[in-house]
Amino acid sequence: MKDPVRIHVEKDFEIGKVDERIFSSFAEHLGRCIYTGLYEPTHPLADEDGFRTDVLDLVRELGVSHIRYPGGNFLSGYDWRDGIGPKDQRPRRLDLAWKTIEPNQFGIDEFYDWCRKAGTKIMGGVNMGTGSPRDAAQLVEYCNFPGGTALSDLRRANGHKDPMDIRLWCIGNEMDGDWQICHLDAIDYGKKALEAAKMMKWTDDTIECVVCGSATATMPTFPEWDRQVLELTYENVDYLSMHRYYENEGNDTDFLASFKDMDSFISTLTATADYVKAYKRSKKTMYFSFDEWNVWYQHNQKPHPWMEAPELIEDRYSLLDALTFSGLGMTLINHADRIRIACLAQIVNVIAPILTERGGRVIRQTTYYPFKYLSLYSKGTALRPVVRTPKLETRYGDAEAVYTSAVYDEEGGFVTLFCLNIGKEEQLLDLDLNSFGRLKMVERIELSGDDLSAVNTFDQPDAVAPKQLPVDGKTDARFEAKIPGLSWNVLRFKVQ
Ligand code: AHR
Repeated sequence: MKDPVRIHVEKDFEIGKVDERIFSSFAEHLGRCIYTGLYEPTHPLADEDGFRTDVLDLVRELGVSHIRYPGGNFLSGYDWRDGIGPKDQRPRRLDLAWKTIEPNQFGIDEFYDWCRKAGTKIMGGVNMGTGSPRDAAQLVEYCNFPGGTALSDLRRANGHKDPMDIRLWCIGNEMDGDWQICHLDAIDYGKKALEAAKMMKWTDDTIECVVCGSATATMPTFPEWDRQVLELTYENVDYLSMHRYYENEGNDTDFLASFKDMDSFISTLTATADYVKAYKRSKKTMYFSFDEWNVWYQHNQKPHPWMEAPELIEDRYSLLDALTFSGLGMTLINHADRIRIACLAQIVNVIAPILTERGGRVIRQTTYYPFKYLSLYSKGTALRPVVRTPKLETRYGDAEAVYTSAVYDEEGGFVTLFCLNIGKEEQLLDLDLNSFGRLKMVERIELSGDDLSAVNTFDQPDAVAPKQLPVDGKTDARFEAKIPGLSWNVLRFKVQ
């Protein structure tokens, strides 16, 4: 008989408090994310503001903390003034980032109203491509200044008497990428971002700013870009951004082990930021905003004619994608000491957990479920479990067959384990939770299935969904649980 996988969770092995902003998402003016995703005034379920209520319901259920807006690559060519004021006077523009026509029927005022209905907060973005530090500070003034200036009074005239109180701002997007409108090198970007951050914080000293890190780990300038940008901005910004997407390149085990690569990406940038801290003799520790992460089949992109809201990058996620995705989400928890914000890119239609039909139905994609349960059950402190598990050989080196995250909710008295089994074999888990005293297992959720390529469709919306398993209700400090091969599991205990 093979050995069980031993998981020992110790109350004192703290990684850090899980910041609720780790479960944030992203809405970009891209494809059908905004138009026919969040906003579709002609839809039968649209409310008085033109927002799709079926989408709002699913966003609320998902448990999203903040939503990053308005981009993405779109941000670097966007003039926020185009999206305010009477809708019939707003300009139609070419969006050069995604080669689409932007009707500007949805802007910061509409997004603010949408977020209030969705129960989320805004993570704003300022344009560092065609935009200036002045434009950036003026957007902060428009949104957050109480009144008595031209811009704050304009917001009041546009229907928002009270300040929007947007506390978190991205200073540009992926400025290291040559695909970015008005891309800059690290020195030019660092200097511009510094001046923007200063002006934005002088306008509102309660805000926090995120400076652009490398667009991905495969950039030739990674991690030198991050070092240079941080050296220029360190004392004036609060977070460095990280972006990372994964796709299946043919080997399922490698794909499932993407969490290993994400883990080393985070470790590299942590070391880079700590180098800058030492070099600058700073007392301040830099934290991270992982503000784009997901599974994304980037090789599937096709050209399209100029039009409004085309179907762009609407990946359909399989069970296998959802398993890989769960490992990425767990990695954020396992780095809770340094990651304070993370955005699942994106929220609706565009590489998203929620998919709509124009004028029609809405479904939860497979990735919806891991995000929902990670967000719901990761309140508290992330703990570092000691796990004895078989290893699998992957392109990222040896990876744990059973990858684990643990969260202790001191207030509610819950211990939650998330276990991803990337091996084909069933595993018996031997769980040692002695440091918590006696506990009762109160919930078990399993995401698994015979067909890894299964997806949810509009006609079969629940083809892939997690199962709630029975729990035996015994009170103990040691538990056993069998998990199937290729499965994601949530095991939740209540301290007695
Ligand atoms: O999320 C899709 C795109 O991916 C974003 O616009 C960009 O920032 C990234 O390259």
